[in-house]
Amino acid sequence: MATATTNSILLLPEVQSVLERLHTLADTGDEVIIQQFLASGADWNSTSSEQKATVFQSALLPISRDVGRFLYGVARSISAQRIVEFGTSYGVSTIYFAAALHDVGGGLIIGSELERSKVTKLRSCTSL
Ligand SMILES: C[S@@+](CC[C@H](N)C(=O)[O-])C[C@H]1O[C@@H](n2cnc3c(N)ncnc32)[C@H](O)[C@@H]1O
Repeated sequence: MATATTNSILLLPEVQSVLERLHTLADTGDEVIIQQFLASGADWNSTSSEQKATVFQSALLPISRDVGRFLYGVARSISAQRIVEFGTSYGVSTIYFAAALHDVGGGLIIGSELERSKVTKLRSCTSL
């Protein structure tokens, strides 16, 4: 049975390699940062978005592989042409969205990110 990802740019080894590297980085590194936050005794509800963004500046906090494929499928199934993303982080979800836009013939994705250091890293990425 054909799936939403048949004939997708998502299947390119170069794209898979980048996604797998980022997911693996998150799988191995994010938990440590989350545990450090919890161990600090900080209260999640009384910590501002700006403070959280700073604490988690080294954490990717990406959507999972399954959610990424799901969002890719949703965007592709509606032939999305414009996608606005709130909280780009290190751009994992952006790759899934960009793949969907590519596979429906092109489009525009607008990212947003509160944490300045992540924005700097995102801006330095010119290609996969
Ligand atoms: C869960 S992560 C996003 C993960 C990303 N969408 C992915 O799947 O790879 C949430 C991100 O939203 C950012 N953020 C939090 N509040 C924000 C805001 N008001 N505007 C933009 N970004 C924000 C955080 O700094 C963090 O990087």
